[in-house]
Amino acid sequence: MRIGILGAGGMADALGTQWAAAGHEVMISGRDPGRSAARAAQMTTGATEVRAGSWAEVAAFGEVVVVAVREEGLLGTLQAAGAALRGKPLIDVTNGDPGRYDPARPLARLIGDITGGHVVKAFNLCHVDVWRMTPPVFDGRPLAVPLCGDDPEALEAARTLVEALGCTPVSGGGLDRARLLEATAAFVIGLWVGGADAQAILPPMALSGDHPSPAYD
Ligand SMILES: NC(=O)c1ccc[n+]([C@@H]2O[C@H](COP(=O)([O-])OP(=O)(O)OC[C@H]3O[C@@H](n4cnc5c(N)ncnc54)[C@H](OP(=O)(O)O)[C@@H]3O)[C@@H](O)[C@H]2O)c1
Repeated sequence: MRIGILGAGGMADALGTQWAAAGHEVMISGRDPGRSAARAAQMTTGATEVRAGSWAEVAAFGEVVVVAVREEGLLGTLQAAGAALRGKPLIDVTNGDPGRYDPARPLARLIGDITGGHVVKAFNLCHVDVWRMTPPVFDGRPLAVPLCGDDPEALEAARTLVEALGCTPVSGGGLDRARLLEATAAFVIGLWVGGADAQAILPPMALSGDHPSPAYD
C-alpha cells in the first residue's frame, strides 16, 4: 500500500518505519524539506526507500494518508495538503492538549470536514515509544488498537496498518465515537502525567459483566 504521512515527527517516524519495513511504500512531510528528507533517510531500514515530499505531494501519493501533526499545525497542514485528500482514507492519530481537550470539537470530525476524506481515528491512545515496539505485546497479549470510522474501505486500510505492526484491530464504532477515543487519550495522559498507572483502572474482561454480542462490528 502507498502510505502518505502528513508529519515527519515522532509518530510519523515510529509508524512509518514499521510500515516501510513491512513492505509498504511510505512518504512523509514536515515543514522543512531538508529535515523531512533526513528523517525519511533514517526511516529507510529495508529494501523499500522512505521518501519525503511536500504536504501536497504526500496527499497525492497516499492511497491512505495518515494525519500525524500537532494540533497547532493541523489546519495549515490540511489546507496545504489540498484537494487530493477528498474521498481518501485518512488515518487520524492526533491528540489535542490533554489539559484543554473539548469533546464538543473532536479533531477527527474537523479533519473530515476540512478535507472531505474518510477519517478513521486510530493509534492515539499509546505513547510513541509503543509504536516503535516490534511487536507491541504486553503480558503475552498483542496490543489492541481501537478504530472509529464510518467508511468500510478506510476501516479496511486502517486494519491493514494495525496488523502490519503486529497489533489487533478492534472495532470502536463510527466516526461519531472518535471523540470518545480523543477524550480517553486526554484522560489517560492526565493520569500518566500525574504519576498514576492508567492501565490499572480497568478490570479484566471476565469481570466486565455479561455481553451476549459484540458492541460493534
Ligand atoms: N508523541 C506521542 O506519544 C503521541 C502518541 C499518540 C498521538 N500523538 C499525536 O500525534 C501527532 C504527532 O505527534 P508527534 O509526537 O509525531 O509530534 P512531533 O514529533 O512534535 O511532530 C509533529 C509534526 O507536526 C508538524 N507540524 C506542522 N505544523 C506544526 C506546527 N505549527 N507546530 C508544530 N508542529 C507542526 C511538525 O513539522 P516539522 O517536522 O516541520 O517539525 C512535525 O512533523 C500529534 O497530534 C500528537 O498529539 C502523539
